[in-house]
This record gives sequence, C-alpha cells and structure tokens, in this order.
Amino acid sequence: MITENSLDQLLSVVAIEQVVGDYVTLRKSGSRYTGLCPFHDEKTPSFSVTPSMGIYKCFGCNKGGNAIQFVREIENVTFVEAARQLAERYGVELIETGNRLDDDQYQELQRRKEGLQVVLDYAQGFFQQQLNDTEEGAIGLSYFKERGYSKETRSYWGLGYSPSAWDALLKDAEAKGYKKEKLQEVGLVKQNDKGNWYDLYRGRVIFPLKTPSGKIVGFAGRKMDKAENSPKYVNSPETELYKKSDFLYGVFEAKQAIGKEDNTYLVEGYTDVITLWQSGIRNAVASSGTALTPGQIKLIRKFSANITVLYDGDAAGIKASLRGIDLLLAESLNVKVVALPQGEDPDSFCQKLGGEAFGEYIKEEAQNFIFFKAQLLLDQAAGDPIKKSEAIKDVLQSVSLISDSIKRSVLTRQLAAICQVEEAVLTQELGLLLRKSLRDDKNSDALVKQAGSLLGQGAWVLPEDAFSERHQEAALFRLFLLYGNQELKSGQSVLDYTLDSILDGEEAKDQLGDLLKTELFQRIWTDMLSFRVRNKDTELANRWPEPSFYIHHEEAQVSAWAADVLSRQYVLSPTFEEHYIYIKEESDSVQIVQSIEAIVANWKRIKVEKDIQEALFMLETAEGEEQEHLMSYLLHLNGIKLNISKSMGTALSGTGFGNKPAQA
Ligand code: UTP
Ligand code: MN
Repeated sequence: MITENSLDQLLSVVAIEQVVGDYVTLRKSGSRYTGLCPFHDEKTPSFSVTPSMGIYKCFGCNKGGNAIQFVREIENVTFVEAARQLAERYGVELIETGNRLDDDQYQELQRRKEGLQVVLDYAQGFFQQQLNDTEEGAIGLSYFKERGYSKETRSYWGLGYSPSAWDALLKDAEAKGYKKEKLQEVGLVKQNDKGNWYDLYRGRVIFPLKTPSGKIVGFAGRKMDKAENSPKYVNSPETELYKKSDFLYGVFEAKQAIGKEDNTYLVEGYTDVITLWQSGIRNAVASSGTALTPGQIKLIRKFSANITVLYDGDAAGIKASLRGIDLLLAESLNVKVVALPQGEDPDSFCQKLGGEAFGEYIKEEAQNFIFFKAQLLLDQAAGDPIKKSEAIKDVLQSVSLISDSIKRSVLTRQLAAICQVEEAVLTQELGLLLRKSLRDDKNSDALVKQAGSLLGQGAWVLPEDAFSERHQEAALFRLFLLYGNQELKSGQSVLDYTLDSILDGEEAKDQLGDLLKTELFQRIWTDMLSFRVRNKDTELANRWPEPSFYIHHEEAQVSAWAADVLSRQYVLSPTFEEHYIYIKEESDSVQIVQSIEAIVANWKRIKVEKDIQEALFMLETAEGEEQEHLMSYLLHLNGIKLNISKSMGTALSGTGFGNKPAQA
C-alpha cells in the first residue's frame, strides 16, 4: 500500500490541469478550466478542473476526483498503477508498505509485461538490423525501395526484415540469452509436434506495431512474393501488451499531426499510412483492415473529434462498413468520407497523384458521411419507391445518432433536398426515431438518476424524494465535508454540534454508523472515526478530517463525492439548475446553523415517523393496558411530529431547502 504521506506529497506536486490537459482541451475560465468530458459524449462543456483543489468534475456524467482518479479512469488502470505513473512523471518517490494481494499481483503483472517488452524490443532491433546490415536483407530493402519508401521513412517507421531460415531469430535470441518461451509468448517462435522450435516470421518484411506512447507491442510481417501461397500478413497474437480491438496502426506517429490538423484520416492498411506519411500527410492511422471497435474510436477521439474515412475504391467494402461509421457518429465524431476511384487505395492513389495533389483531392472530395450514405443508398434504390423510403429511413437512423440537435436539423434540411422529400416529413420521421432510441436507451433518464444518485445530492435534490433518508445523509455529509471543523459561536465544531443535535449524547455517536443507510456514507463515517482514533495523541486530536482527506481518498467513490460537493460550491450547472432544487451555499455561520437545523429536524422527523409506524403495527395485536399505553405513546409521537414539522417550516424557508431559491 502506498502511504498516505507520499500520496499527499504526490498530489501536492501534480498539476491536475496538466494531467487532464493531455486528454482534454481545457479552456481557462476564472480560477478553473472547462472542457468536453472525456468520459461521456457531449457537445457543450460540463467538465471542470479546479487546480487550487486538485480536482476534476463532470456535471454531465458525475465523474470526478483527483489526478490519480483521473489517470485511473482514463487509462483504465488500478489506483496504485495510476499513482505510480504520476509519481514517475513528476519525479516523486512513492513510499509503499505492506503486501496487499492486489499489489503483489500488480508487481507480478508488471514483471511479466516487462519480460515481454524486453523480448519485443530485442526482436525489433534484430529485424531492423537484418534489413539494413545483412546480405539477405537486401531482398527486403529492394522490396521497400520498389514501393518507394525512402531511407528516412524506413527508419522512422522502424521497418525490418526477417530472414528466410527456419531459426534465424531463435538462434540469435538464444545466443543473447533470451528465453524461447518468452519469444513464443509474443508469437515470434513456435514449437512443432516433434518438439522442434522455429521462427514464425520468415522471409517477410516487418512492420512494428506500437502503442500510442511508442512501445513495441507486436509485428506484422508482409510476404514479398504475390505468388507465394501463404497469408499476406503474419500478425502478432494478442498478449498482455497487445489488444487488437484497441489497436490502431500509426497513432504514435500520427497523434501530434492529428491534434494539429484537428482531423484523422482513417485508412485500412499499414502501407497506406506509411505512403501518406512519406507524402507529407501525417495524420493517418489504419484500422488494420477490420471493422472499427469502440476502443479504437475512443483512442482517436482523444486527439480530435473530426475523422475522414478514406475508402478503397470498391463499393462492396464501402457498403459493408456503413454500420461501423454509425459507431463513430454515436461517439460524437464528425465523420467525413472520401471514396477513392475504382481500383485505387490510398497508397496507390497517393503514389499516382503525388502527396500534394492527393492531399487536395481528399480535402475536396471529403463529404459529410450522412450525404455520402444517402447518395449511395439512393443510387442503389433508383426508381424503386419502396427501396427509396427504406434508404431514407436508414439514413435518418444515422442522423438520429448525432447528439447535437442543431447539426441534426441542418442535416435534415439538406437531406430533404437530396432525397427530394418534404423536410417536414423527414423531421417527423426523425422525431419518431429519436423517441424510440430514447426509450431503448437504458441511460435515457440518466440525468434524472444522476441527480438522485449518491453523489453530492446534498446540494441538488430531486423534488419527489428530497426528504428521503439517502438525501438526508447526503446533506449531512456535505456539511461535514464543507464545514466539519468550523467553529460555531458555542465553541463547538459544526460536526460535533450536528452530531449532538441528532444523537444526543456522546456514546450515541457510535450509533451513527448503524443509522446510516447509504454504503458510501457508512464507509466515509468509518474512515472519519478511524481518523479520530489515529490522531487522538497528535495535534489533530478532537479534530475531524479536512476536505483533502476526502479528495485524496483511495476509494474512487469517496473522492468523486468530495470533488462533486466541493465543485458545486463554485460551479452551477445550468442543466441541473433547470431541473433540480438547489440548496444555496451557506455564506455565513448563521446559514450553516440553519442548514444543520433543517437536517436535524428532518432526521428526527424520519425517526419519529418510523416509531409511529412501529407503534401502529403493535397496536394491531395489542389488548387492554398495553393498548392504552400504545395509544398515549402514539399521541406523544404525533405531538413531536407536529413540532418538528413546525420547526422545519421555519428552518426550510431559511435555507432554501426544498425550494428553488429566488435567483438574483
Ligand atoms: P491490404 O490487403 O489492403 O494490405 O489489407 P496493405 O497493407 O494495404 O498492403 P498492400 O498495400 O496491398 O501491400 C489492409 C490491412 O488489412 C490487414 C493489414 O492490417 C493490412 O494492412 N491484413 C490484410 C492482415 O492483417 N492480414 C492479411 O492477410 C491481409
Ligand atoms: Mn491496401
């Protein structure tokens, strides 16, 4: 486990806007930054970074936390791994203690990955050296030269050659001390039935495959002789380092240009990417000839929201890939397409025209995907009204995936012209599709649920269950987080005063944990108590944790909750303001006390309500004296309830709790 101290130290030097800025284009706005949330699709920024507190928060999807949580979430790694990444980047030494199981597993995985990486790096060097410095490599060299690849291109892309002998790599590797088993794991060698080992890449030119950060994860070996009866490419198998579904060829080499051009060219083949690069078009990546996956789309989306798909000039392939493009639309990418002339691929056509003319060609020919699809389907439906209406529906289906309503309506207008149908008809049809997809979409009421979710509803509450226990707990812990140690006139801290008011009596404090219904707040409460125990002999004795305790909490949910509550002190989300009741931020201790009063009153009301229910239940079977007792007890409870309601009336009007405050 990483010690609390060294985590604090790490987070104190990490610039969160820098960490987030690697993935999100941030705009400064006052003391904060805003941008488009990398965790969900959106067109208007609801993602905010507050450097002074070291936190990020999305008001759209509710994700939030500190820099470690961000890395963990976006890189899909463990907390420990994320902390290590940041520590390395900022030159902080993490002090780790103990030997938790997942830590061991982490170390083990890390060792395994490193073991594979060493072998892959070695093989890369071997293949490259074979190409450049051996007699046999001349075959590979002349192949690349024939394809027009310059020396600079060959070296930039790390191209190589695998000799035709059965065991060239194997022999060399073993002589240098690399283990066969490791080579086997990354798909470079294999053992046959007789137990003999042999190279898998023989007599092929080699294209190394890299991660977006430039690490070698595998190889593609292309045969040089068309006539030879074997697959065109031999590709690496999946390993812990190489996941095909998340892989795009050329991202490492193209990512800068993609950002600069704010556009990605998507092609099919390795050779397309390299030819375009050599011709000065440096923002191309290849899908390796398969349908796009969500993982690949996420990867491109990090660098730009615009994508231009370059199709080889055969219509069959184009039609097959239309569905894949819908995925791009659904991920909020702006998609254009270029269909190259019959029989050409980007490689051949670029060689033919030369880089400059090719670059102009694709810029000129790039067409909005929707229109492209409409034209393609309408052409095929020519003269057949039923097919035509199917085609239009199909296109509208794609339009319905676009989340920006303005864009949708502009497209619909233009589509009407292309299809020669009334715009109103299209709009109506589109409306039906949108409603249907909203129904189908399990997340459609996400916004509603979000507000009612566990995070931060101390500040934002849904009208219908604003007084539920969950909301009460959220409201309570929001106060704890924001004002816990703040001293009231009585000299008591906000937290202690609140606890006393709710629970009357010191030993009752232990009971809060039992009273809490929400797992998140149970967890937080337990940690708050152990903080007290831990610090009982220090200068922090009798104090409650500060906000940083919650922000830097290892549990992502806790950190997200803290980020949420703290961010809401500063940012009002217009979407939320429209839909949800807002508790005004307490601006002085009078208002804090009013908030406490409201919470305490409601807390008691809920409790009294429960007692009443219980008494009523017992009354059903009670007789004689017991019945009389219960009756007077109920009367007593009702009196309490009435009093609470009265006091709540005043407390609530004071804090704006339960009502939208009049906004100036
Ligand atoms: P292509 O057949 O278009 O290959 O397949 P290419 O890379 O453009 O090669 P040239 O220009 O014809 O020499 C497109 C992509 O499909 C994958 C590769 O990623 C290739 O780049 N592919 C193709 C394979 O993985 N294996 C194959 O056998 C064929
Ligand atoms: Mn090709």
